[in-house]
Amino acid sequence: MTSDQVWIETAFDCAAVDNQNFNADVYRVFYQSEPAAAPLMAHIDELVQNKMLAEVVRLLLSPNLESEEAGYLNFEVKTHIEGYGVSSLMFLSFNRAVFKVLRSSAARVWEEDLAAAVARRFTALSEALKERLEDVSVS
Ligand code: HEM
Repeated sequence: MTSDQVWIETAFDCAAVDNQNFNADVYRVFYQSEPAAAPLMAHIDELVQNKMLAEVVRLLLSPNLESEEAGYLNFEVKTHIEGYGVSSLMFLSFNRAVFKVLRSSAARVWEEDLAAAVARRFTALSEALKERLEDVSVS
C-alpha cells in the first residue's frame, strides 16, 4: 500500500515538473478569493512570497505536523495575526489556493488514492492552524 507520504511527494513532484508558474498561480488564486490579502503583501517581493509558500509546502510534506511543527506553527500564527494583520480566514484560503493549484498542476498523476492522501494532509494543516488561531483569538 502506498503511504500518504509517497502520495503527497508524488503530487508536488509532478506539479514542480508540469507547472513552472506554480507559485505565481497560488498567489493569483489566493488574491482572487481573498482580495484583502493583496495589499497586506504588496510590500513583499517575489523572493519572500516564494519563501513563505515554500514553508507551507514544507508543512504539507511533514508527516508529523503536531509533534514536530507545533512550536513553529504557534510562532507563525501569532506573528501573522498580531504583527502582519492577517485574518484567520486568510490562512484557510491560502491552503485552499495551494490545494486548487496543486490539483490542476498534478493532473497527470491525480487519481483517487492520491487525492484522498493529499486531502488528508491539507486537512491536517488546516486543523492544526485552526487550533492555533483559536488560541491567539482568546489570548
Ligand atoms: C501556514 C501558513 C503560513 C506560513 C507558514 C507563513 C510563513 C511565512 C514566513 C516564513 C514569512 C517570512 C518570509 C521571510 O521574510 O523570509 C512570511 C511572511 C509574510 N506572510 Fe506568511 N505564512 C503563512 C500564511 C500567510 C497568510 C495566509 C498571509 C495572508 C496575507 C500571510 C502574509 C504574510 C506577510 C504579509 C508576510 C511579510 C511580513 C513582513 O515581513 O512584513 N502569510 N510568512
